[in-house]
Amino acid sequence: QTNVILDCDPGHDDAIAIIMAASNANLNIEAITTVAGNVSVDKTTLNAQRICDLIDLKHVPLAKGANRPLVKRSEIAEEIHGDSGLDGPQFPDHPTKTIEKIHAADLIIDKILTSDKPITLVPTGPLTNIALAMLKEPAILPKIKEIVLMGGGTYGNWTPAAEFNIYVDAEAAKVVFESGVPLTMFGLDITHQAQATTSIIDDLAAIKNPVADTVVELLDFFKHTYQEYFGFDGAPIHDACTVAYLINPSIFDFKHVHVDIETKGEYSYGMTCVDLLGVTGKEPNVHFAHNIDQEKFWNLLKESLDSY
Ligand code: BDR
Ligand code: CA
Repeated sequence: QTNVILDCDPGHDDAIAIIMAASNANLNIEAITTVAGNVSVDKTTLNAQRICDLIDLKHVPLAKGANRPLVKRSEIAEEIHGDSGLDGPQFPDHPTKTIEKIHAADLIIDKILTSDKPITLVPTGPLTNIALAMLKEPAILPKIKEIVLMGGGTYGNWTPAAEFNIYVDAEAAKVVFESGVPLTMFGLDITHQAQATTSIIDDLAAIKNPVADTVVELLDFFKHTYQEYFGFDGAPIHDACTVAYLINPSIFDFKHVHVDIETKGEYSYGMTCVDLLGVTGKEPNVHFAHNIDQEKFWNLLKESLDSY
């Protein structure tokens, strides 16, 4: 079993990542932590509660984290995820999932220091909580097995150069990418290959259980905003790539490369500088996913939703 902490900003694709992780017996979710990103941290935390309620995830602690980036001002993505951050389905008014009385960064530190098994961090939002934990308690660094993250790419979606998660808190990303912890990165190059088109959503709609139905409603909304905003055919479920990899690494192909985070550029703030040709001569610090087996990926999502 792989022990994971899901650090997220749900978010349609974050929600699907949680749903996929919780359904697989090879993954043990040690905690879910939330961060500001797609919407405020109060909203991403409420959305995490809603998803935990939907899949009846009672035993996993949920903690709220940073409501703003380390250095610069906040930025949210309401255009993409709607006002709630999880627009589309109708959720019950009052969630029942409890929120721990501890900051997300402290829960991450506690879990890593007290666990006798190595822990894999799975950030699918801005990297603020992960950077805070690393800065507050560097003793966690050698105990983190791997960080499997969604962020960056060789092009951007928030600016031409920068992907949203990295752009929101590039200073935090810099802390994480320079930490020396093994990193596996799912950037836009790969996540845009995981696009839920109408025919895929129709397949999922045939499953028919409350979890699958909610995922279909999420994808219908998400597909619509991606069509409107980016002119895409479908909804890329970026964040679920991280979990799919942890369940079945053979779905993806990787290159071991050096990645630097741009924090100063006039046009390139938040860019992940992916050294695909090795021109910097720097030691590789990232396993960069560049190819996906579509069939295996969608089958995994189907199996996951079928299991509810
Ligand atoms: C990332 O930004 C968010 O909108 C998504 O949840 C994903 O984590 C894609 O750029
Ligand atoms: Ca996200």
